[in-house]
Amino acid sequence: MRVAVANNKGGAGKTTAIVHLAEALAARGRRVLAVDLDPQANLSRRLGYGEAELASMVTAAEVVAAHQKGCAADAIVGCRWITAGAERIDLLPARYDLEARVAEAGQLGSHERLEVALVGVAEDYDVVLLDCPPSLGHLTQLGLAAADTVVLVLRPEYDHLQGAIRVRDFVTTYRRHLGRPRLDVAGVIINEHDRRRGLHAWHTDSVTETFGPLVWSPPIPSRAVLAEAIDAAQPLRARGAPARALIATFSTLADQLEAATDALA
Ligand SMILES: Nc1ncnc2c1ncn2[C@@H]1O[C@H](COP(=O)(O)OP(=O)(O)OP(=O)(O)O)[C@@H](O)[C@H]1O
Ligand SMILES: [Mg+2]
Repeated sequence: MRVAVANNKGGAGKTTAIVHLAEALAARGRRVLAVDLDPQANLSRRLGYGEAELASMVTAAEVVAAHQKGCAADAIVGCRWITAGAERIDLLPARYDLEARVAEAGQLGSHERLEVALVGVAEDYDVVLLDCPPSLGHLTQLGLAAADTVVLVLRPEYDHLQGAIRVRDFVTTYRRHLGRPRLDVAGVIINEHDRRRGLHAWHTDSVTETFGPLVWSPPIPSRAVLAEAIDAAQPLRARGAPARALIATFSTLADQLEAATDALA
């Protein structure tokens, strides 16, 4: 099952959700492919590949340019974490020059290039998580055209909710053009939730009013240990006792991801 994670608002926690859902899924024995579609390459770094190394690697930029069936296999590398289960996570990395692929947006059928590259490759995994940049442009469209379903990530704030709504509406309007007539939103993850902030409680209600039963729970709380794991490019399982509650949170979200994708299968 291929899941595009998106929001047309930056800093929502898309990459964070992918990294730690991948961790949770791998811990229960699933094979996961994380696909970095963001020239920022945050996902690639958090799974162990820094900018200097990425410079000499085959990345999503070359894969999309090649436009060959199954060529994603030439770029896939293993996650570099040393915790148990990490060997079940693979990465299709990105580099800053993935941005150059945007120039191909006008070419007929160019939105299908990632999907073509994943033919015969995605099937090796239980879950493929596609990390979209905070835009509705060509790179996100490559991800949507390769996806079976969409998960939105947002902070309980006005601009984040609007960004998520724009993705949902974009999917509804353009899914046929993207060759995915049944593509839809399967879930909404609320990130950086702070129970003490009235604004967050208020916007959490708005998210529920907008997306109803698609909203997964619990929300991901705002936690220093998560920011530290992100910074250090480590899994939560490397952060000891302070990370235990978050490990449980991501495991519950992974249950909902699997339930949602099972329902589509
Ligand atoms: N639950 C959280 N608790 C603490 N810090 C968090 C949490 N979620 C995200 N962050 C912080 O917010 C930053 C942005 O998160 P992330 O990179 O996952 O967002 P994004 O949606 O992928 O951003 P972009 O739109 O740039 O791709 C992280 O670097 C991290 O420091
Ligand atoms: Mg990101």
